[in-house]
Amino acid sequence: MPAARGPVVSLPKIETLSMSRVDKQKLRKLSFHQLEDAVQEAEHLLAVGYRRHGQWSLGQICRHCRDVQEISLRGFPQWISMFAWIRPVLRRTLLPRIMRGASPIGLPTAPWLVPRTEVDDREEVLAFAESVQRLRDHEGDYYPHPGFGQLGRDGLLNLYTAHAAHHLRFLSPVKDPSVTT
Ligand SMILES: [Fe+2]
Repeated sequence: MPAARGPVVSLPKIETLSMSRVDKQKLRKLSFHQLEDAVQEAEHLLAVGYRRHGQWSLGQICRHCRDVQEISLRGFPQWISMFAWIRPVLRRTLLPRIMRGASPIGLPTAPWLVPRTEVDDREEVLAFAESVQRLRDHEGDYYPHPGFGQLGRDGLLNLYTAHAAHHLRFLSPVKDPSVTT
């Protein structure tokens, strides 16, 4: 579906945002074919242990991904609709970047989607897996994405798959599964 014309808006210079708390060299290249692959990766990191190269733990990342994707099932706060006018711009600019695995690093997360620090990794990995199943099994309509609008079922699942890969690349497994001892 072609993006509707919208007002001309300049996005922030996302490449120049602070990287002071992220070691970009240590970020993995990570992409998944489907959302279940992200669950598998989270379960793997939980099993073998992980190092953080960003601010969030495994549990926080899983919680954030769950909160973001469940917007499609529960909707979002009404006030966000005030910014619907910017969706065509974000669809033309930010969405393609996310989908090709080049999500901007350092963009601040909306406060209502920032996970609290005291979450349990195991509980959140399990809750993320259940959320993916709920999203997959959902038979009704999905709410529009707050930033990109209507994407359809496959569009949403693909977006959340890329989103999960973006966040999980900030963790690396402690044990390399390709090395047998
Ligand atoms: Fe995110």
